[in-house]
Amino acid sequence: MNMKAFIFDLDGVIVFTDKFHYQAWKKMADGMGIYFDEKINNRLRGVSRAESLEIILERYEGEPLSAERKAELMEEKNNTYRKLLSTMTPADVTDEVRNTLKELHERGCKLAIGSSSKNAKFILEKVELLDAFDAISDGNNITHSKPDPEVFSKAGEFLGEKPDNCIVVEDAYAGIDAAKAAGMTAVGIGDASGYDKADVKIQTFSELLKLAE
Ligand code: BG6
Ligand code: MG
Repeated sequence: MNMKAFIFDLDGVIVFTDKFHYQAWKKMADGMGIYFDEKINNRLRGVSRAESLEIILERYEGEPLSAERKAELMEEKNNTYRKLLSTMTPADVTDEVRNTLKELHERGCKLAIGSSSKNAKFILEKVELLDAFDAISDGNNITHSKPDPEVFSKAGEFLGEKPDNCIVVEDAYAGIDAAKAAGMTAVGIGDASGYDKADVKIQTFSELLKLAE
């Protein structure tokens, strides 16, 4: 049997960095007097840093901001976010996730990351998972973020696999849409386990082993 290739979203699938994104954006928004809450933060899942800023600025009532000012705000947010990320350790990845990745590899599956984040490698280093993946496609090698298929299409190319052999694991609706647009099988976990466009819905990470038997 032709073993499958798995492409994993990072935030919300392998690690849980939502709280750090929230704290970092909240600090920036508070500094600008912009209302921001966890519900708005949920809309940022899977979307790029620049698009996230635009969503937050929907509540901004001041004069229009220049591109330079927006770049400064994104840098400020990213600096806060990276400080929070630097507190991560291998204990931030569950044994279930670590053991499932290992088992998939042992069964002959290829594994990649498909993340919109430019901090993906930094996060993987902190949790000591960099070696668990055969390829990393992230915010540094794409020009369009999810729901555009680019990040997953690139991950498939990096692995040398055709789309119909690739299984994407995602927690964001935009990520499921991106996987389908790439012609791949979409597995929804977490938030996306309630999304009807997901081909397979799972409640817990180790259920992926059933897709590699
Ligand atoms: C995604 C997150 O993985 O990465 C988004 O779900 C985030 O919330 C995006 O905006 C970009 O992340 P970064 O680390 O490049 O700012
Ligand atoms: Mg995610």
